[in-house]
Amino acid sequence: MENDAHKSVAFDELINKTISRRNILKSGGAIGATGFLGGVSPLVGAVTQATSLMSFKQVAANAMDTITLPEGYTHDVLVAWGDPIVKGGAKFSTTNTAAEQVTQYGDNTDGMSLFHLTDANGSLDESRGVIAANSEYINKKFMHTHKGEAMTADDVKKEIAAHGVNVFEVERNKKNEWKVVQNGKLNRRLHGDANDFVMTGPATGHNLLKTAADPSGQMIRGTFNNCGNGQTPWGTYLTCEENFNGYFGAPEGTQMTAEQKAYGLSETGFDYNWWQEEERFNLAKNPNEANRFGWIVEIDPFDPSSKALKRSAMGRFKHENAALALAADGRAVVYMGDDERGEFIYKFVSHKKYVEGDRAHNMTLLEDGTLYAAKFNEDGSGKWLELTYGQNGLTKANGFEDQAYIMVYARIAARFVGATTMDRPEWVACHPSSPMVFCTLTNNKYRGEKDDQPIDAANPRAQNPFGHIIRWVPENRNHTSSKFGWDIYAMAGNPNTQTGAMAGSANVNADNMFNSPDGLAFDMDGRLWIQTDGNYSNEGIFAGQGNNQMLCADPVTGHIRRFMVGPKSCEVTGITFSNDQRTLFVGIQHPGEAWPNAEKDGVPRSAIIAIRKEDGGIIGS
Ligand code: FEO
Ligand code: CA
Ligand code: CA
Ligand code: CA
Repeated sequence: MENDAHKSVAFDELINKTISRRNILKSGGAIGATGFLGGVSPLVGAVTQATSLMSFKQVAANAMDTITLPEGYTHDVLVAWGDPIVKGGAKFSTTNTAAEQVTQYGDNTDGMSLFHLTDANGSLDESRGVIAANSEYINKKFMHTHKGEAMTADDVKKEIAAHGVNVFEVERNKKNEWKVVQNGKLNRRLHGDANDFVMTGPATGHNLLKTAADPSGQMIRGTFNNCGNGQTPWGTYLTCEENFNGYFGAPEGTQMTAEQKAYGLSETGFDYNWWQEEERFNLAKNPNEANRFGWIVEIDPFDPSSKALKRSAMGRFKHENAALALAADGRAVVYMGDDERGEFIYKFVSHKKYVEGDRAHNMTLLEDGTLYAAKFNEDGSGKWLELTYGQNGLTKANGFEDQAYIMVYARIAARFVGATTMDRPEWVACHPSSPMVFCTLTNNKYRGEKDDQPIDAANPRAQNPFGHIIRWVPENRNHTSSKFGWDIYAMAGNPNTQTGAMAGSANVNADNMFNSPDGLAFDMDGRLWIQTDGNYSNEGIFAGQGNNQMLCADPVTGHIRRFMVGPKSCEVTGITFSNDQRTLFVGIQHPGEAWPNAEKDGVPRSAIIAIRKEDGGIIGS
């Protein structure tokens, strides 16, 4: 917080440039097909300018099976797949049953948020909190001793139970170490078969959501493939349903509709075979069950008896995360990416306004609002295209039955209105004190290859194997505006092995290079944290980049510095901070060899780690 004054001046300058200096942005537009090679786009400024945000010493890339942090930092494992988190929970074993998994932390940790509890005086308690965290998917080869080769009905139930959301209390001891409070009264698993979900918004009760088991079209069992997350100012958790399509299947020869194909539904799915054991996942018998997934779900971590609310007004797609900003007039604005090659970036604007202190009212904000999809113009300007029935040709005559249909098939609507196909939008992050928004575009082998994904200014590199980070500023600093200015913050690349476009932008060099930016978050001081989920072969075009990692960046100067390297095979994903910024929680997903202690456990286990400075200081400073 110490540099606040300095930062807001810098950001004002930046925003003025974005909105008024279109001529510069035009030359930024020319960065499009070929020309960004000269470096970071004009808005970032000279990368040689010093950064006051970060003072840690960058760590080198490596391919070791461990966590590497800068000098003066340390970490603990907070919780790993299979650790008991609900009352009477079973201890981890490679032979845990489905009934035991329901009491334990799920597999493959991803997005998460820490919510502090309040003390007896009603003040925020710096040492106690509740974490809500996603378990995105499972690894058959580690989950079952038969590695998935001899699946039983209980094995399918165990897989379903290892998905979803984990809610558990945590507390910090005098040594600044956080521990899970086993048997905490808020502890809860909202797993793939939990009967805790209710649909809200325009699709509620629509024919497209009705199933034999739920003729009301609004009472839903489970959540799965929960990827990134969001956290609201009123203290709720947003979990984002991503690759839900992979869990559905059908007998050979079942024809998929155009709508099903638009969401990647198929006979085989991702070979989970849940559909052979549980009829609701069989698309031939229950085609509407798939329409009940692919949503943002709002969860109250402070009320263990509350229902989780699926938010149909925010659209159905492969939700990565949800970045919320309050507009000046109090409306809640949520930016969201749809992580698939050639899909879109979206924005939701609530109809109602935030009221400080009125939590019950604020908890209705995400129920109704307007959804938009982004169009990035070549000249550095952009427009939000409204996805409302009757707007932009979204009418019955063009195949859009009503608002519920538009929300259930938001991808089809966004494509119809001419939104820009992007290079796999992953996380979006809003700066804490300025109206700047960043989004990772992780990679896209189809860019320049498929007709609907031509090279353009916002996605300027053919096949984009390294990915990039785009950012925008809304017109008049107003998140509800339908216009914005944008530029590219960084093109990832490899300056050691590549030349030209593949070497990356000027703020990417031999010492900080990475590929496939994915997780993205600002801390309260405005440091931008970048997590990667990319190629960790350390070979070929990726030589020298090592394992997946986490970097810290200055959003104004363009400096990027490697903060952490993850263990072998892992993806680094999921990030949240303690209120005092002296603990940084990070998710280590799908580690592949011995980390954290496979000798003892029999298998590597996905885990949340808590990073702290040995001197107790602010992380990154
Ligand atoms: Fe679950 Fe797009 O990452
Ligand atoms: Ca991701
Ligand atoms: Ca990814
Ligand atoms: Ca992942």
